[in-house]
Amino acid sequence: MDERILIHMNDPEEWLRSWDEGTQVVNDFILPRGRRLKDEVSDTIYHAGTEVPYHQHGRGTETFYIARGSVECVIRGKRFIAEAGDMIHIPPYTPHGFKFLEEGTIWRELFQDIDMAQGIYEKNSVNGRHIEFRQDPEFMNMYLNDGTEDLTREPPVAEAVDKNQVHELRSSEFGFVTYEGDGWRLRQKVGRWECDGVKEVWQASLEQGFTVTWDYPNQNWELYYITGGKIRFTVEGKEYLAEKDCLVHIPPYHVHTMEVLENAELFDYGGETRLLELLEDHASIMKNQPEKLKDQEAMTRFLHKYRCYVTHAGMTYENE
Ligand SMILES: [Fe+2]
Repeated sequence: MDERILIHMNDPEEWLRSWDEGTQVVNDFILPRGRRLKDEVSDTIYHAGTEVPYHQHGRGTETFYIARGSVECVIRGKRFIAEAGDMIHIPPYTPHGFKFLEEGTIWRELFQDIDMAQGIYEKNSVNGRHIEFRQDPEFMNMYLNDGTEDLTREPPVAEAVDKNQVHELRSSEFGFVTYEGDGWRLRQKVGRWECDGVKEVWQASLEQGFTVTWDYPNQNWELYYITGGKIRFTVEGKEYLAEKDCLVHIPPYHVHTMEVLENAELFDYGGETRLLELLEDHASIMKNQPEKLKDQEAMTRFLHKYRCYVTHAGMTYENE
């Protein structure tokens, strides 16, 4: 089992692999896992002016976060500029092409159902060993036709629009819905309906002193991407200090806690908890059956129904 729990994405010592592709460098952090190829995370760092031609995928979803720089995007024929802090979510059959505008633009990638790392491995394998076969139409037909219904498109005739008009672009302020409470705010960035049921992505803003405990061993893999602040994770008794540009990847049946040491921002990339349904139904219970909230056993059963195994969450006021 992968026990790399804390990953500093900017530290070359912690990269699984790194591919220099000339116009960009790809650094792998987490390789895809399981039947649905979950939780593949990598950075592609682009040289200025590099273009990814207009194309679409027949399966798999790509969720990109711009950690640094800016990108000219064309998605479904709409052209706009995306910047650091923006997220872009691309489901199947959504044509997309990019031009990376700034040197060292960091394109942080989360994939499912797609196995991008294997694709990059094969590309480098062909280019490194048998590059002459790229001139062989028969070989290229086999190489490009991998049964995924991926399609390279003609250069688009694109209409320039404001980025916030493009459904796939999620700026730092975007949320399909927002829920908040004492010390926390959650905004839904990506819906389960956009990932063929594999996951949902939430952005959490957490205040210093907010803590969450998962003391009930459970099947979920957890994956967090911290974009600001400081959080102490304790996983099976071992402490990890997570800051900006860190991933925290926690295997199943590892009990853990998170304590916010400095106001923090993170993306919950694990998405195994059905958080949208949970928050919606919890709001309904608060309104319609408030007496149920006092029944500990009923509330535990309620949380488990949504694959939520939180045993405690709230603010702690240590110095009061
Ligand atoms: Fe793509």
